[in-house]
Amino acid sequence: MDKKLIAVTGATGAQGGGLVQAILADKSGEFTVRGITRNPGSDKAQALAKLGVEIVSADLDDTASLTKAFAGAYGAYCLTNFWEHFSGEKETKQGQSLAQAAKAAGVKHAVWSTFEDTRKAFPLADRRMPTLKEKYKVPHFDAKAEADHFFRELGVPTTFLYTSFYWDNLIGFGMGPKKGPDGKLAFVLPMGDKKLPGIAAVDIGKCAFGIFKRPELIGKTVGVAGEHLTGAEMAKGLSQALEQPVSYNAVPSDVYRGFGFPGADDLGNMFQFKAETESAYCGVRDVAFCRTLNPDLQTFAKWLSQNKSRIPLG
Ligand SMILES: NC(=O)c1ccc[n+]([C@@H]2O[C@H](COP(=O)([O-])OP(=O)(O)OC[C@H]3O[C@@H](n4cnc5c(N)ncnc54)[C@H](OP(=O)(O)O)[C@@H]3O)[C@@H](O)[C@H]2O)c1
Repeated sequence: MDKKLIAVTGATGAQGGGLVQAILADKSGEFTVRGITRNPGSDKAQALAKLGVEIVSADLDDTASLTKAFAGAYGAYCLTNFWEHFSGEKETKQGQSLAQAAKAAGVKHAVWSTFEDTRKAFPLADRRMPTLKEKYKVPHFDAKAEADHFFRELGVPTTFLYTSFYWDNLIGFGMGPKKGPDGKLAFVLPMGDKKLPGIAAVDIGKCAFGIFKRPELIGKTVGVAGEHLTGAEMAKGLSQALEQPVSYNAVPSDVYRGFGFPGADDLGNMFQFKAETESAYCGVRDVAFCRTLNPDLQTFAKWLSQNKSRIPLG
């Protein structure tokens, strides 16, 4: 039987890497994988090649290269990385290129890693949340959402994937618990008592694999999460895993926006959006449904048990 090829942008990263792992693990399954990278010689790309992944070079800023990289593929995982450049316009353009390449290559199922347009809940004139770069409320959400229509208008058979907060941010994104002047650990999150859908980053790709196996999800929006937890529940999980007390510091979103690190205003707005639209935001990210896509979906406790030693306790 000829296997169906899934071409994966972001294969060397968190989301795409999870998808590559899932396809490789399903040896007797109907799919095979092609990893797309700008740099086939990188350590990450070479490591994938050693596992048997076909590695192809392409750049999201070059639609012709993407079209070639998608050629012959049944499926395409479409990912952009806002945090590499912090430009909404660039991210939307890259989303457009992904849609154009998927169309030109005739892929049968694209999964587009996108987000809600937060301006539907918080129009630009809404003074509860600052407008950023004159046209966004949450740039890394809104810019992805602005590319959704390219997939629809070009008639690309697409599943729109709404991802969630990576618990891995506690390791690499500086969001882990920090020691206060009293030497005690505190976990800062501007979510009040609201629930934050979270997920092990690797599980996003594993859920995407479940989506590729279900063509009936074409045209649908699917949200993924491993659990919906309040900041207090996350702090409790951290206390248990780290075997020391971690308190929850629910700073207001204004304070978070003022932290000053690159993207603090974008993330402060993002958490405010998630908190104030809690029911809709959690509702579209149905954990039980995700478990049907990915039976190995991790809980926060499971993720912590495997990753707690990697959390820097500054
Ligand atoms: N942090 C979170 O909590 C979170 C949650 C949900 C969604 N997200 C979203 O996730 C996205 C990032 O995904 P990730 O975390 O999987 O990424 P990542 O681990 O940081 O890796 C980035 C990937 O994107 C590829 N890439 C970037 N620019 C490219 C270009 N111009 N052409 C081709 N490939 C390019 C890189 O490939 P090469 O370097 O090999 O070329 C790499 O594989 C962001 O847009 C973010 O908004 C983040």
